Amino acid sequence: MKVEKWILSVLLGAIVILGVVVTLQINRLQTVVADAAQSDYELAIGMNQLQTWMDKLYFSGTAENWPLADFYLHEIEETAEAMMMANLVKNEQPLTPLIESMMMPVVDDLEAVVDAADAEGFLRHYDMLINACNACHANTGYGYIQMQRPERPAFSNQRFEP
Ligand code: HEC
Repeated sequence: MKVEKWILSVLLGAIVILGVVVTLQINRLQTVVADAAQSDYELAIGMNQLQTWMDKLYFSGTAENWPLADFYLHEIEETAEAMMMANLVKNEQPLTPLIESMMMPVVDDLEAVVDAADAEGFLRHYDMLINACNACHANTGYGYIQMQRPERPAFSNQRFEP
């Protein structure tokens, strides 16, 4: 009886130690995976893409070329999704929840006015998206990166009129 109890305590102790070791290993692997994801994605290049899509979105939207504006909104969404997958952290601010809460709802609203071919709504919601870009820059310590409405298309070799 005494021996059985002793074996049981040893076994329980071993299980607890094993559990701790496995948890520590999983935590270590999660950190390794998160670091790998971080280093792979070039945020400034993704942001530069957003800047290009925003430029083209403005000229397609103001030309009331709704299918083209819709195309650029999808590109903005895809770029934002790739950024969220990268799980980046800047100045101790995780970017994924910021993109999700500050940017994606504004993009969805812009999509709704584009789908409704609402020219006035387009300008209003386009400006809201610019504000969202700038708010996130301010939030992450990059307040000196300020977006605004473009004056002329960055590319002269594309027609934006329908
Ligand atoms: C999650 C927060 C966040 C959101 C939302 C965000 N940005 Fe950024 N942006 C950053 C950070 C952080 C940097 C600095 C990147 C670096 O350090 O490499 C940056 C950098 C930039 C740059 C500088 C790179 C360059 O090519 O000059 C531009 C431009 C830019 N963002 C445009 C935009 C636009 C346009 C939007 C909105 C459609 C946007 N950003 C939305 C966080 C954000």
